[in-house]
Amino acid sequence: MTALPVLEVERAHVRYDIVTDRVPFRKVNRTLSEPLRWLYRAVVPGQRIQVRAVDGVSLEIAEGETLALVGESGSGKTTLGRAIMQLERVVKGSIKVDGINVREVRGGRARRRLYRTVQMVFQDPRESIDPGLDVESIVAEPLVGLGIEHRKKARRARTIELLHQCGLPASLLGERPGRFSAGELQRVAICRALAPAPKLLVLDEPLSALDLSSQAQVASLLRQLQADLGLAMLLISHDLAATRHIAQRVAVMYFGQIVEVAPTTDLAARLLHPYARALISAVPQLSRLSQTDPRMAIQPSALSPPPGCRFHPRCAEATDRCRREKPKLKQGQLPHPVACHVVHDGA
Ligand SMILES: Nc1ncnc2c1ncn2[C@@H]1O[C@H](COP(=O)(O)OP(=O)(O)O)[C@@H](O)[C@H]1O
Ligand code: SF4
Ligand SMILES: [Mg+2]
Repeated sequence: MTALPVLEVERAHVRYDIVTDRVPFRKVNRTLSEPLRWLYRAVVPGQRIQVRAVDGVSLEIAEGETLALVGESGSGKTTLGRAIMQLERVVKGSIKVDGINVREVRGGRARRRLYRTVQMVFQDPRESIDPGLDVESIVAEPLVGLGIEHRKKARRARTIELLHQCGLPASLLGERPGRFSAGELQRVAICRALAPAPKLLVLDEPLSALDLSSQAQVASLLRQLQADLGLAMLLISHDLAATRHIAQRVAVMYFGQIVEVAPTTDLAARLLHPYARALISAVPQLSRLSQTDPRMAIQPSALSPPPGCRFHPRCAEATDRCRREKPKLKQGQLPHPVACHVVHDGA
């Protein structure tokens, strides 16, 4: 990588504290009468458990580069995206956006500086956009909120420029987005995210709530923005097929950890990790992974990750070592970094 990294994630950890069911309750449930069950629930506390949603992740994105972050649902992609935006707390390791250490950002001024540098587009634009506001207010909101432009006329000119960049006509300015299609709404959301001219855009499944033709349009818009503005993007997706035409590299995430980082050119031939290969053969939808191999239907619980390699209960190539020892993400003799004992031993 030659250009300076806009995003540097180093061994970042994000955890959720959750209180589980009273575990022994299911066992005693059948033997107790209803008043005793009630008493049991009242006096026996639930167990406090931590979900390691992001568990020691390291990655970098260079200026103008798009990195796709792919993996099945629950692998920790959204949590990492939210942690970059300081919407989740990083408890260990670091995340730096254009040199700003996200863990150290405190107070309004520092936060405004962060959000001028990085913006996020969420999965469902219907949830992230207020349908009561007109397009001009929605798109110009960060210009006001981040103290970038106080003059109304200049804000309008910038909003029109942004709409144009996103392939939307200026005639939409006064319209409320209540009747917009999901594709149009997602373009408006992208416009708003671009308003502060960020260096990095985090896009969380930006295509998955859209119909096929809108998906193609928004994908081509993202490619265009990357070329025109030199934007760096973290493109979170469970759809490897859609992202490989936008991103230059792909990072495959499994159970809170990155298991492979590879260039997207000729991706199917390049991927080496058994999980990544299963994903690519399940194209277009990772949700169909279970159809490729019955082992893939095993969904390990986030509350008790398997020891050793977390993928071992689903892996056709697992050895005893895989069950004991956690593989590190490293390049060694391989063309790119992979976290798998067997792949490294065979290299
Ligand atoms: N607010 C939350 N509270 C508790 N657990 C959560 C919360 N959000 C996500 N998780 C858990 O963290 C893990 C990663 O979730 P997420 O980041 O949403 O994955 P993905 O975006 O890859 O589908 C999952 O096990 C999920 O259940
Ligand atoms: S380390 Fe072992 S279990 Fe994990 S992916 Fe590689 S072969 Fe499979
Ligand atoms: Mg998600």
